Amino acid sequence: MQSFHTHTDILGRLAAQAALSSYVPYSGKKQGAVLLLEDGSVLQGCRVENASYQLTIGALDNVWSTAHAIGRMDVCAVASSETWSKADRAFLEAMSSFGWTFPTDSLAVLSEVLPEPLESIQPLLQGDVSEPATGAELARSSASMAWVPESDFPVGCIVRTESGHIVPGVNVEHPDWHRIICAERNALSTIVAYRYGAVTDIHVSCVKDPGGSPCGACRQVMVELAPNASVWLDRPDSPPTGMPVSSLLPGSFTGRNLRRHVT
Ligand code: THU
Repeated sequence: MQSFHTHTDILGRLAAQAALSSYVPYSGKKQGAVLLLEDGSVLQGCRVENASYQLTIGALDNVWSTAHAIGRMDVCAVASSETWSKADRAFLEAMSSFGWTFPTDSLAVLSEVLPEPLESIQPLLQGDVSEPATGAELARSSASMAWVPESDFPVGCIVRTESGHIVPGVNVEHPDWHRIICAERNALSTIVAYRYGAVTDIHVSCVKDPGGSPCGACRQVMVELAPNASVWLDRPDSPPTGMPVSSLLPGSFTGRNLRRHVT
């Protein structure tokens, strides 16, 4: 068994760097988390707040859902820039298929020997999503990465940014339904963690529901994180339906008076 001192140091430093991407205009409390994968690759996540506080995505949830979206569940450790909260420990411990141990109060590991952390990987897809139809196609195929033991209802999302990044999101479920993250929120929190910039298009495919449409929680998050984007909903026998984010939640809560911190 390794002592994990080096990993605590290196991964702790990377998690602290990831924290710098946090979107925390309400609390100012930045937090980062990183996942170490079996080949030494590292993925990052950060805290992403929302005016409706309970829709805030924690750093751990952010990075965990990113790993699912890109099909990299060869996770061997996760580190946080902060001491694990009770809620984060509970999040990890409730996953019955993983046997976590906690060598320190900011590191959780799945194996006795860890690879050396080598390089950060970008959770991006290649492809052409310049047309709604090709965006829908990619969203549909991304949905195969969804982790849906609770609902068996996979959703795929592809977010495109102004600078041409193509970022996947899938719904990632958890025995605690409050910690389930939808495909759309998964992709949007990845955009924040990696500082990919302004979002132009959000393609969504609810593969088992031809009439599927983003839930209220995702609409609230889109309004805050991607206010100028267009949303395209996959439809089986017709072209995707498009609409501006600004039309999805008329009169939405802005939380303008709650903002205390510059991010
Ligand atoms: N879900 C999404 O991922 N996006 C939506 O727009 C609608 C709902 C997920 C959440 C949950 O994992 C499952 O679908 C059933 O609600």
